[in-house]
Amino acid sequence: MAKAIVPGSFDPVTNGHLDIIERAAALFETVVVAVARNSTKTPLFEIEERIALLTEACKTWHNVTIETFEGLLVEFAQAHGANAIVKGLRAVSDFEYEFQMAQMNRRLNAEVETVFLMTGAEYSYLSSSIVKEIARLGGAVEGLVPDYVGTRLRAKFATGK
Ligand code: PNS
Repeated sequence: MAKAIVPGSFDPVTNGHLDIIERAAALFETVVVAVARNSTKTPLFEIEERIALLTEACKTWHNVTIETFEGLLVEFAQAHGANAIVKGLRAVSDFEYEFQMAQMNRRLNAEVETVFLMTGAEYSYLSSSIVKEIARLGGAVEGLVPDYVGTRLRAKFATGK
């Protein structure tokens, strides 16, 4: 039984994240999307809302579940009996940091393999940070995030809630 973890902050989920989750769901029996609680970044969306947005976005993939994690990712992976951590690579610029994390995770637990999947080319320039910046400045985020995520982003920047 091949089980993969797709980790991230998902603040908020973008169509690029969903592209990777969909690719992982086609390759692995089970996929656990792991939302980091203790990210070093200060999130725009509370963890509950990040989970709610991901749950809506992933509802059609029946082998995908959403969970949160704190602490070391490899420990979460091992506790869930997962053999793989799936990370998306958008461009060469992602590689160095991802390589460092993958090697460190292997050192921490050699039984959990990191698997890199390339995002679709149309998402190669997309990140949650850029989407938040566009929304904050009143730009259009259609096609970059699911519609309900765009609605939440607009509300967040309009009202702060
Ligand atoms: O979406 P992000 O913010 O790029 O996700 C980064 C994340 C959460 C995947 C990464 O920070 C992580 O794996 N955090 C868990 C802590 C951990 O295991 N650190 C050691 C990795 S070398």
